Amino acid sequence: MTESKPPTHAEDSVAMASTASAAATTGITEEIVAANPLRDPRDKRLPRVAGPCVLVLFGVTGDLARKKLLPAIYDLANRGLLPPGFSLVGFARREWRDQDFAQLTHDAIKQHARTPYREEVWKQLSEGIFFCPGEFTDDGAFDALAMMLKEIDETRGTGGNYGFYLSVPPKFFPVVVQQLKRTDLAHGPEESWRRVVIEKPFGHDLKSAQELNAITSAVFPESSVFRIDHYLGKETVQNIMALRFANNLFEPIWNRGYVDHVQITMAEDIGIGGRAGYYDGIGAARDVIQNHLLQLLALVAMEDPTSFDADTLRREKEKVLKAVQLPGDLAHSTARGRYASGWQGGQPVVGYTEEEGIPEDSITETYAAIKLEIANRRWAGVPFYLRTGKRLGRRVTEVAVVFQKAPHLPFSKDDTEILGHNALVIRVQPDEGITVRFGSKVPGTAMEVRDVSMDFAYGESFMESSPEAYERLLLDVLIGDPPLFPHQREVELSWKILDPIEEFWASQGPPEDYPAGTWGPASADEMMARDGRVWRRL
Ligand code: BG6
Repeated sequence: MTESKPPTHAEDSVAMASTASAAATTGITEEIVAANPLRDPRDKRLPRVAGPCVLVLFGVTGDLARKKLLPAIYDLANRGLLPPGFSLVGFARREWRDQDFAQLTHDAIKQHARTPYREEVWKQLSEGIFFCPGEFTDDGAFDALAMMLKEIDETRGTGGNYGFYLSVPPKFFPVVVQQLKRTDLAHGPEESWRRVVIEKPFGHDLKSAQELNAITSAVFPESSVFRIDHYLGKETVQNIMALRFANNLFEPIWNRGYVDHVQITMAEDIGIGGRAGYYDGIGAARDVIQNHLLQLLALVAMEDPTSFDADTLRREKEKVLKAVQLPGDLAHSTARGRYASGWQGGQPVVGYTEEEGIPEDSITETYAAIKLEIANRRWAGVPFYLRTGKRLGRRVTEVAVVFQKAPHLPFSKDDTEILGHNALVIRVQPDEGITVRFGSKVPGTAMEVRDVSMDFAYGESFMESSPEAYERLLLDVLIGDPPLFPHQREVELSWKILDPIEEFWASQGPPEDYPAGTWGPASADEMMARDGRVWRRL
């Protein structure tokens, strides 16, 4: 078995390639890298590139594959980060031939790829696209898959290195994982690697998450399991670590001595779209707080890791998640809502219970807000407020670190009447960047002080669009680089935080309605008002 010890770059990829082999595999030479006018001339590194491999995609007909995964594969190819022999195998219950899957891939790329379409890139990619028809319960189909992969190894030099991406509902994980075991696809020869990629939801509570893990870990070692939380692939989310640990400016004040509270917001303007089957019974908190928002909290609150290797980074996040405490009074420190009909972008939209596929008596929330505390020396007494919702005023995700007011203001009361708190806001999306909000003198003869903003915008400073989260994460899977994938321990700790809240809500009947296009239920504002605070206006 290949993965008894954690993979390293050196073992299974041509990553961080200052080596000649990277250039030989991808054609990216130091000259090409140096020719990029936007590159810092001091930076001599070549890009991280994947070595020979096959990606097998289960669930190719789903939305995620079409909108994110297939375009991300093309974008990686377009950036020269996939080797020429890279192959993609689609597996689904369709009577398709290779050409049909290639056509679906082509259409998805044309519609959703981030980088420009280039015929020569598509041509090279399409030569390695294959399709294996079948049901997950069909032994014959998986035997055919095993044969197909062997042939691909022989014809395209993929070396028995396979990634299995389960972009399917969790109820199918057991059967697929068992089939991979039965066909011996889960374990390859000594010098090859096998990895399995699973998408959230990782269970719907602690117990089911443990059961799910038991199924995968019976077949794949933890080092071969890549759990995707796509927020960790976002540039701005990774930048939280750069901001905190590459600078000396912020860290001295990043604690209870200076921070009043932290607000983490993930607001969406969309409704549930065609995802009724997935969403109902799951709700906003399980859908995004358990994973994306608690991961953001962990990155904002953790201590500096001694390195960014997977184990060290994950351990630091785990310490924070372990230290998270729920306030005793869940009725007053959480809020739940559900969108009612209203207006969005000038269009009338229906309420949650009128959406197709949602039962009238559903008690699923589409808005959730919770207050958490972190019981450690750095954060004791500093509330972290997390909120998320669908059909809110606009799409915005941000982390706002709100500072205490100056202990003394040597101004007349009138001059500082509308001065707010200093804040550092990490804008995760859409217009990615960082804003610092502080008081400044208003020009004129008086000493009036008001809030102003200082802005860093990614687009302006780097003059290029950030890679999509899935580009980064897929590449990491193929390279075998796990720091941006949550460990099972983090998943379980997050459920331990959420389970009591979910239990409490389940006993409370339907959530409070809020009109679509507004900022959530009144109870969320009341929750803040009880602490003498307000949600940031976005
Ligand atoms: C997913 C959730 O994880 O994240 C969706 O299941 C949500 O409900 C989506 O819409 C939002 O992702 P992003 O990257 O658009 O913020």
